Amino acid sequence: MVDDINLVSNSTFDSSVARSNELKHQIEKNPKNFKVLTGERPTGKLHIGHLFGSIQERVKFQNIGTETSIIIADYQVITDRDELKDLQSNVRDIIIDNLAAGLDPEKTMMFCHSQIPPLNQLMLPFLSLVSNAELLRNPTVKSEMESSGRELSGLLLTYPVHQAADILFCKGNIVPVGKDQLPHIELCRTIAKRFNSRYCSVDYSRLDKNGQPLGIENAVFPEPEALLSEVPHVPGLDGRKMSKSFDNAIMLSMTEDETASVIKKSETDSERTIFYDFENRPGVSSLLTITALCRGLRIDSASDFAGQKQVADEINSDPKYGSGLLKAKAIESVNEYLKTHRQKRRELAANLDYIDSILKNGNLKALEIASQTLGEVQSAMGTCY
Ligand code: TRP
Repeated sequence: MVDDINLVSNSTFDSSVARSNELKHQIEKNPKNFKVLTGERPTGKLHIGHLFGSIQERVKFQNIGTETSIIIADYQVITDRDELKDLQSNVRDIIIDNLAAGLDPEKTMMFCHSQIPPLNQLMLPFLSLVSNAELLRNPTVKSEMESSGRELSGLLLTYPVHQAADILFCKGNIVPVGKDQLPHIELCRTIAKRFNSRYCSVDYSRLDKNGQPLGIENAVFPEPEALLSEVPHVPGLDGRKMSKSFDNAIMLSMTEDETASVIKKSETDSERTIFYDFENRPGVSSLLTITALCRGLRIDSASDFAGQKQVADEINSDPKYGSGLLKAKAIESVNEYLKTHRQKRRELAANLDYIDSILKNGNLKALEIASQTLGEVQSAMGTCY
């Protein structure tokens, strides 16, 4: 993921927000009509931003009965770096944290896309459906290339096509994403449409009375839609995006003491009165946000940062007010909030055979689905011998 600033125009973004809100209502009303596919790049251990973000959202979908799958995008790791350092433990950590947060492997399949050959084979026909210019103008790819400081690799250029295979192999129709991923979902829709119209005689230029293209029953692929995640933005301890590489993250795997130590080390300022001002006091403001979030308070601008203000008031009314007390409250709230999650993840991490068996089962299920879809693709294309 890259910072999501300016990657899509405001009007495109506004219409995606409106559509997402409509979709959320539809999913709540008819959870079984949808198939959610979410993805994760295994580049490191997970932090609380992941938990409050994608992980808890998935658990919610699973629990309302929407079929949910999690793809661990291991090939995507080498889009912008050479080394696959700690890959196996990163993959296991994703599984452990998802399970600890409530994912039920009987209901939700987790798998690595590198292990599913027919999924990867979809990339070949898909590549023929997009132009070089379309690939080159993808703003997220451009910004990922810039932040990697490297030349554009063939895989980085084409990974949005690979991502389309990730989504379409299982006919996912809802993809929860952040703003930075919108261009990829748009490309995935384009690929689905072009495949359906080229090989399945779906006529997108003429619609029936329900607004559906003609001959839709012959379509191999749905046109997946992005669901802009309504997840809180959790800042890192220095106010930048939370990331292990910035050394500003609270990792789910940390002990209580390690958590206390990173919070104590975080940079605040010398002003004793505590108040929320993200621009000028990033360290103090991030601690207020993280504390409020862990206490279940509202942290959004629509509530005028009510949670942050409540925490700040509590600190300022204490004779020991100041950054030290803020840090103490943050440590207490984070450790309390993560207590059960950490307990569960410790138990799970003690049984790696179990974790590996979950991945193996997920891979097998995904393989079966991908083989079925590839069969449909081959029969639509006439590549059956
Ligand atoms: N590209 C996504 C990211 O960088 C990860 C991902 C891979 C993904 N395949 C996916 C997300 C399929 C959603 C659907 O975060």
